[in-house]
Amino acid sequence: MEIKFKDVDFSYNGNTSIENKVLNNININFESGKIYGIIGKSGSGKSSLIELINGILIPTAGKISVGKFKIEPKSKQKNMKQLRSNVGIVFQYPEEQFFCHTVKEEIEFGMRNFGIKTNVISKQTIDALKIVDLTEDYLERDPLTLSHGEMRKIAFASILAYNPKIIVLDEPTVGLDDLGKKNLIKIIRKLKLRYDKTIIIVSHDTNFLLQIVDHVYLLEDGTIGLSGDKYTVLSNEERLKKNNILVPDILAFSNLVMKKKNIKLGYRDDINDLIKDIYRHVK
Ligand SMILES: Nc1ncnc2c1ncn2[C@@H]1O[C@H](COP(=O)(O)OP(=O)(O)OP(=O)(O)O)[C@@H](O)[C@H]1O
Ligand SMILES: [Mg+2]
Repeated sequence: MEIKFKDVDFSYNGNTSIENKVLNNININFESGKIYGIIGKSGSGKSSLIELINGILIPTAGKISVGKFKIEPKSKQKNMKQLRSNVGIVFQYPEEQFFCHTVKEEIEFGMRNFGIKTNVISKQTIDALKIVDLTEDYLERDPLTLSHGEMRKIAFASILAYNPKIIVLDEPTVGLDDLGKKNLIKIIRKLKLRYDKTIIIVSHDTNFLLQIVDHVYLLEDGTIGLSGDKYTVLSNEERLKKNNILVPDILAFSNLVMKKKNIKLGYRDDINDLIKDIYRHVK
């Protein structure tokens, strides 16, 4: 399902003066079957931008279309249910999205809310838990007693269970160990390739983003500062540095070799490919 932002402004207090705008004249597209990264310094408006996609926040100007749904300044919260069944957001602070006493109720909530048939709810709950690498032992746990990484997995499972066409992850690697990150990469790849989802990932972790995204948007001063394929945007040391973001290690290495030795290795997202390139150059 495609998402289009057309001339979108957003401010929290409804004040439309330029200094109150968190987002200013945003024009972006997200297509299905692609993975997008959103980067930007703290407070640059990344979380605000993604909360506009399912109408939690409403633009102060411009228009957002999500498939056939339109979100405009005059849109009303009560008309958002069908939109929300298509957009699953795992929030930056998952504990803020929990309000049930058990993991089971939490995962089932979205499915019940969006009218999924009762006879498949239990199966889809367990399937979703499996995808995020958790067992049925978690079903009766209180979500608020889980570790941060486990909370993220439950929040993700609650989204996967109702099978939205768009999946948005806000800082998904926070609290995950290396294996957890690897598993997350595997899940996201499968969602893209097998299920043709539109996937948007907000993250400060550029090493992670490089491995998984196709396209990157840099949010800068409330607007899109850079947009391009992952190699072009994530290798731009000057602009990333200006925004307190580190270039992924593997791209920083290629940049360094270019600067010091004037050898153009090209950019890779896999270290083994880079090693092969180096061999080719030293042979
Ligand atoms: N509920 C709110 N009310 C008023 N202002 C807010 C609210 N939430 C965020 N802001 C402000 O909007 C701006 C953008 O915040 P946002 O959370 O979208 O940034 P972010 O890029 O996600 O930051 P981070 O990387 O720290 O998560 C910030 O200046 C922030 O202080
Ligand atoms: Mg944020």
